[in-house]
Amino acid sequence: MKEKDLQSEAVIAATSKKVKKIAVLTSGGDAPGMNAAVRAVTRCGLDAGMQVFGVYRGYEGLIEGEFLQMDRRSVSDIMQRGGTILKTARSDRFETEEGQERASSMLHTFGIDALIVIGGDGTMRGAADLSNFGVPVICLPGTIDNDLGYTDFTIGFDTAVNTVLEAIGKIRDTSSSHERTTVIEVMGRRCGDIAVYAGLSGGAETVCVPEMPVDVNRICNKIITDGHNGRTHSVIIVAEGAPIRTQDLVEEIRRKTGKEVRQVVLSYLQRGGSPTSSDRLLGTLCGAKAVEILADPDFDMKSYAVGQRCGKITSTPLKEALEMERDFKEELVGLINVLSK
Ligand code: F6P
Repeated sequence: MKEKDLQSEAVIAATSKKVKKIAVLTSGGDAPGMNAAVRAVTRCGLDAGMQVFGVYRGYEGLIEGEFLQMDRRSVSDIMQRGGTILKTARSDRFETEEGQERASSMLHTFGIDALIVIGGDGTMRGAADLSNFGVPVICLPGTIDNDLGYTDFTIGFDTAVNTVLEAIGKIRDTSSSHERTTVIEVMGRRCGDIAVYAGLSGGAETVCVPEMPVDVNRICNKIITDGHNGRTHSVIIVAEGAPIRTQDLVEEIRRKTGKEVRQVVLSYLQRGGSPTSSDRLLGTLCGAKAVEILADPDFDMKSYAVGQRCGKITSTPLKEALEMERDFKEELVGLINVLSK
């Protein structure tokens, strides 16, 4: 086939699609791997003959009309960077109907046929509200928390767990030398997955998570018995949303065991850093899937959540995805307790 024919075929294919102009934004807490998702959306979108726009500062930037047309070079050299090149925000204005109306009218003004949003639970609920104004939204799970029911893993979780793991190793060295107990607070207001996965792979003695009650007496008795059995230091991981405040737990352990206890709050360290290969892959595959959905000539102009289940990249109707309960793996906490006996 001649080059000219090939070009006109590509033009026909592009113009016969329903979705010709897409926009992408990142919202809520940033997560390593978001850049890989933005890159995949941009390059796959351009490859499918779409025009691609980046929206700065999440829903806040959407309300303000902060759009930038993307080309292949706009996303060069970003895979290895943590954070998000599109910036992010938590928008109070977008929580109001007026804010959502303004955001949807911005999409109309710029002629955007569909929006792709990368963020966590709050971002997705915002997307569902926006889709009530007739804009199809495809959501990608971008959060370190791993707190979404419809996907096995979220983009950024693996990097955060690895950051905590590195910290546990270093803290264990000094805890062991000084024969101390150290309580490490990790992120996760509603979800203990960072604590559990890092605790299990880092050999923590105990983890405290929002999903389970905390038995302070059991923790203290274990420290005392461990001491009698020759284990003179321990590392306890507490998720920030656990039913006991980290500071209170530290004081209780001091009081009940008479041992030296230190506290480390890892905080925003967990949100930064170069993404692991798993997060880059998940971001890339979810971004590519979002464009695949939109490029389908039979796309139903409805909203979807893209994720990963049992190793496969999936798409679930957005409202259904938001209703899916998270499956907290309590047995992993049990395993941590067995392994640390
Ligand atoms: O949702 C991601 C997260 O890092 C949570 O783990 C944490 O509780 C929260 O964001 C912190 O939010 P902010 O960035 O607004 O302080």
